[in-house]
Amino acid sequence: MGYTFRMEQKPISELMSLSGKSVIVTGGAMGIGFAIASRLAEAGAKVLVADKDAAAAEAAAAKIGGAAISVDVSEGAQVEAMVAKAVAEFGGVDILVNNAGIYPQKLVMDSTKEDFEKIVHVNLMGAFFAAKAAAKQMIAQGRGGKIINITSVDALHPSSTGLAFYDASKHGLWGFTKNLALELALHKIWVNAIAPGGVATPGTGLGKPVDPAFAALMEPFMKKIPMHRMADADEIGKVALFLASDLSSYMTGSQVVVDGGVLLA
Ligand SMILES: NC(=O)c1ccc[n+]([C@@H]2O[C@H](COP(=O)([O-])OP(=O)(O)OC[C@H]3O[C@@H](n4cnc5c(N)ncnc54)[C@H](O)[C@@H]3O)[C@@H](O)[C@H]2O)c1
Repeated sequence: MGYTFRMEQKPISELMSLSGKSVIVTGGAMGIGFAIASRLAEAGAKVLVADKDAAAAEAAAAKIGGAAISVDVSEGAQVEAMVAKAVAEFGGVDILVNNAGIYPQKLVMDSTKEDFEKIVHVNLMGAFFAAKAAAKQMIAQGRGGKIINITSVDALHPSSTGLAFYDASKHGLWGFTKNLALELALHKIWVNAIAPGGVATPGTGLGKPVDPAFAALMEPFMKKIPMHRMADADEIGKVALFLASDLSSYMTGSQVVVDGGVLLA
């Protein structure tokens, strides 16, 4: 090892290939998770779509030639079964995408301890359960791995009121990402995050909110986006492919902001 070495320059097709890799995407049945699962499958990976919505997970897996499992990421035992399923179906785990997340809006002054716990258990504890179970498997395999956590621009800056618990969970997930990257580096497991801005998904009404309260909440946020539009979920999927593949071979502990410039505002 030294600082004058050069790595072999792989052709782009090989850099982007995930051929033979086993991937788990939590919350992979729709929205950002499905967009990520689709791109990783297109790059050759075998993808386990892991989602609370069993029927949607099955349908999503069928579309991309993957497998499906019904899982609530806030339940540790179910998450361990999810990793076991990937091992049984595909022979191991190489890449984990912690995408499952919820973003109910409620002011702190109207909220209870249970409201806070629910968000933290899914968005933060769920990522811990999955990262621990997947990393244990990756360490046993001895061939490294990748963990990608889907945070949010709210991990850096609040986008609106009513999201204090969400923002706490996403700030937490970003902190967790960095320290886990430090802990797992010796096993060649690289841990990074993607921080999306507004993305058109089922959860955000596919960019056209039907709920007037939600539309009112989104309006000031939309006005702040320099690109004047929400992201298509595939615009997160493409960045996930970058972080999942050898294109990002020297990255760990990073957070890639994909927000149409909204943090500039
Ligand atoms: N859409 C956005 O504007 C946006 C912006 C920044 C970050 N994010 C983050 O991206 C992720 C996905 O968001 P989305 O908009 O695609 O959401 P979505 O609501 O459209 O889809 C979420 C998927 O996750 C599943 N899910 C929810 N709770 C789960 C649980 N406990 N266990 C397993 N699966 C569960 C749902 O069934 C669904 O299939 C979330 O972590 C969210 O915080 C979204």
